[in-house]
Amino acid sequence: MTGDAGVAGGPQTAAEPIDLAALGEEFLRDPYPFYARLRSRGPVHRVRVPEGAEVWLVVGYEAARAALADPRLAKSWDRAAPALSFVRPAAGPNMLNTDPPDHGRLRKLVAREFTPRRVERLGPRIEEITTGLLDAMAARADGRADLVEALSFPLSMVVICELLGVPALDRAAFRSWTTDVFSHPDPAARATASRETRGYLERLLDDKRREPGDDLMSALIRTADDDGDRLSPEELLGTAWLLLVAGHETTANLISAGVLALLRHPAQLRALRADPGLIDDAVEEMLRYDGPVEAATFRFTTEAVDIGGTVVPGGGEPVLVVVADAGRDPARFPEPDRFDIRRPARGHLAFGHGIHYCLGAPLARLEARTAISELLRRFPRLDLDIDPAALSWRAGMLVHGPRSLPLRWTR
Ligand code: HEM
Repeated sequence: MTGDAGVAGGPQTAAEPIDLAALGEEFLRDPYPFYARLRSRGPVHRVRVPEGAEVWLVVGYEAARAALADPRLAKSWDRAAPALSFVRPAAGPNMLNTDPPDHGRLRKLVAREFTPRRVERLGPRIEEITTGLLDAMAARADGRADLVEALSFPLSMVVICELLGVPALDRAAFRSWTTDVFSHPDPAARATASRETRGYLERLLDDKRREPGDDLMSALIRTADDDGDRLSPEELLGTAWLLLVAGHETTANLISAGVLALLRHPAQLRALRADPGLIDDAVEEMLRYDGPVEAATFRFTTEAVDIGGTVVPGGGEPVLVVVADAGRDPARFPEPDRFDIRRPARGHLAFGHGIHYCLGAPLARLEARTAISELLRRFPRLDLDIDPAALSWRAGMLVHGPRSLPLRWTR
């Protein structure tokens, strides 16, 4: 099957899912034209994901927004059709893989501790870590660095590890597992990484029970709401897993893809350099234009659901909502393929929508704002050190972003 065979080749029937694995590297690099072609034919499409399973893909802004908030699309894997050939993540129960009423309970207990104040307090530390990383980058005699290694990953990794209380010594191993959980091309390697992450967190939580610190994980062990409700050991494990994995891959890719978008649009870069106060709007536009989450996590039908005229059967059919395409829908964002840091980009679905709306959005925004502002301030003459067409992109439909971003600068 060629790149657009399933799209161009006439009406698609349930018997002929589009094979996403056949779309190749171009789909990883720039999935937007493919999704736009799907969208032109309707909001719901049957596809075979690279893991082999057949799923219902939802594209377009309105359909995506409605699907994300539809209570008939459940998040618990217990709702998934028994025949599904997916690797079920080895995380314990957490707010992202549970439905009401459990979801509300888990989210409330975490939100009690993961407060805007705790995030605000991290501000000076985020600046300090950024400065240290940029100092090391600036010291490179050849005036070249890979931004992913020099800034995006270490910043988001150190911040989430310090927030949660993961010791510095363990971070390298931890990073490789969590990267593999999302993006390893081999599903078996993804499953192994998922188990290893779980095993590590079990040991870490045991340590925190014996010797609590002032980190979020210790606070989550202690926390109880007014009725005395608290997180069970399995829920603690699931929550720690969720926060660590959700908290760094995503933010790292936002920084990398955001800087890439700026460097590919020199007029926008000049505008931001001339008025650094535009940074908040610029980050929103980065989230809309090429955000780090391509598709939200799996949802499963609890009954037949009509999405934009297509009835997805009940019984645990898997549904993937392509939030990346929602940001490129011209019905919601005029000239959606134009990167414009002054446009009103808010309303994008990069952080999801509904009860599962990203709990870490304020932290992600703070990190991206700090990293990108400081990078531009410290490096007034910064350029790509690679033809953008030669960049390699992460595999998998969840997280989208370049594996590396070679930059060069002059003083
Ligand atoms: C740019 C960075 C980020 C993006 C684009 C992002 C995106 C998302 C999206 C799309 C969802 C909803 C998924 C769904 O409905 O299937 C989500 C949920 C979540 N995110 Fe983020 N995220 C980011 C950073 C973070 C950070 C830094 C943290 C925590 C430290 C975090 C924690 C969470 C949690 C806990 C949920 C689950 C909320 C719930 O189920 O109620 N995220 N995120």
